[in-house]
Amino acid sequence: MSSYPPLMACDESQVEEEVLWAAMKREEGRIVMIAGQKTAAYCDENGAIHPLSAVCPHAACDIVWNSEVKTWDCPCHGAHFDPTGKLMRGPAMTDLQLKKRLTPPIP
Ligand code: FES
Repeated sequence: MSSYPPLMACDESQVEEEVLWAAMKREEGRIVMIAGQKTAAYCDENGAIHPLSAVCPHAACDIVWNSEVKTWDCPCHGAHFDPTGKLMRGPAMTDLQLKKRLTPPIP
């Protein structure tokens, strides 16, 4: 017998996500929890949110936002990613994984 997640869980995630996006400033990065998962979220100069995996693709350390140079940095071995997750410097070999956003962008 299969079971499906309750609709309430999805609705709660969407509400949670909308509140988080509304609180973000432009050109700000922040680690947030979306549906129980750490997410690296960047709000660009136009107000568009770029939700990314908060896990470095090199060896799975948690990345952090560097507000001085506006990059996602990995404290373990020094990888750097631009605000939208593109790899700038290794040892990681790939970009941060883009996450699907549940809610529409901020108007
Ligand atoms: S785990 Fe991030 S650079 Fe190694």
